[in-house]
Amino acid sequence: MAEKTPTQLIDSFDRRIEYVRLSVTDRCDFRCTYCMAEEMTFLPRSKVLSLEEIARIAGVFVQLGVAKLRVTGGEPLVRRDVTTLFQQLGALLDNKGLKELAVTTNGSQLVRFAPALRAAGVSTLNISLDTLNPDRFRALTRTGTLAQVIAGIDAALEQNFPRIRLNAVVLRGNNEDDVLPLLDFALNRGLDIAFIEEMPLGQVNMAGKPLEFLPSDTILSGVEQHYNLESEGAPDHSGPARYWRVDGSSTRMGLISPHSNNFCGSCNRLRVTAEGQLLLCLGNEHSISLRDLLRDGASDIELSNAIVTALNDKPKQHVFDQPDQPQIMRFMNASGG
Ligand code: 5AD
Ligand code: SF4
Repeated sequence: MAEKTPTQLIDSFDRRIEYVRLSVTDRCDFRCTYCMAEEMTFLPRSKVLSLEEIARIAGVFVQLGVAKLRVTGGEPLVRRDVTTLFQQLGALLDNKGLKELAVTTNGSQLVRFAPALRAAGVSTLNISLDTLNPDRFRALTRTGTLAQVIAGIDAALEQNFPRIRLNAVVLRGNNEDDVLPLLDFALNRGLDIAFIEEMPLGQVNMAGKPLEFLPSDTILSGVEQHYNLESEGAPDHSGPARYWRVDGSSTRMGLISPHSNNFCGSCNRLRVTAEGQLLLCLGNEHSISLRDLLRDGASDIELSNAIVTALNDKPKQHVFDQPDQPQIMRFMNASGG
C-alpha cells in the first residue's frame, strides 16, 4: 500500500493541533530572573537547528494543517540572519495554508527589526514588558534597558502590525504595583496586554525558592476597582488567555493562569525547541527529536508520520503543582515560553 501523507493533526483527546511554536535560539540578551540563571551555558551551535532545518519543519507542519506559527526563543531576534527565516516562513502564508505568523520578543531589537518582520508577513507580536520602572526593569532582566524596549514597542506601532500584545509576568511582592501603570501604558498606545502567573520551570525555582506567582483573580479584582471590564472569555481557542475588554477602549486585558485555571482541555499547540525536540506539552517531558530525523535524511512524509505518531503521546494535562510529581528541569528559554 502506498504511503499516505497525513493532512491534519488530531491527538488522542480529539484536540486538533493548528498552532506550533518554534524556538529559534535558546540565547537571549536578557537574563530575566524568572527565566534564567545569572550564568547560563547555552547550546553549542551544532546542536541547534539551522535556519534551513527550521524552515523545513515549519513547511511540514503547515502541510499538516497548522495555520499559526509563532517564532520564539530565547530571544528570536538575536539569532543571526533571522530575517531570512522570516522571509521563508512568510512564503508559507495564504495559498500555502499558513494564516498567521507571530513572534514573541523581549523588544530589545525591535527598533532594528520591526520593518523587516512586517515586510515578511508577521502579523502578530507579543512583547514582554513587566514593569515601567527603569531600575526594577534592570533588576528583573539583569541586563535590559527599559527605554530601549519602549522604543522597540513604538517602532512596532509605527509598522501597524495588526495585533500587538504586551506580556507581563506578575511576581508577588515584586511588580504587583506595576499592573495598573502597565495597563495605562497599553491603553494609551491602543495595545492589548496579558498578565501572566509565573510558572515554575527550570532550576531557578529549585533550592526551595517559594512560588512567587500572584493569582490572576487578585489582579482582576484589583483592576476592576479602577476600570469597567467586559468579559470576552477565551474566544478563539488560540491560546490560554482569558480576555476582558477595557470599557471605552480597544484594549483587551488578558489573564494567563497556568496555576489557577487549567486550560489544557482546549490546548491546540505543540512546541519545537531550538534543538529540534518536538514537545507535546510544556509541563511534561514527552518529546521526539525532529533534528535527529532530519539529520538522518528523513523525507517530508517520514517527518509527517513521526509527528502524527508522537501526537498520540500528547498528555491530557500539565502537572505543575503536585509535590509528588518531579518538576521538569528545563529553563523557559529552551522551550520558548
Ligand atoms: N513564568 C511565566 N512566564 C514566563 N515567561 C518566561 N519565563 C516565565 C515563567 N517562568 C514569559 C516571558 C515572555 C514569554 C516568552 O514567557 O515573560 O512573555
Ligand atoms: Fe530572555 Fe524572555 Fe527569558 Fe527574559 S523571559 S531571559 S527576555 S527569553
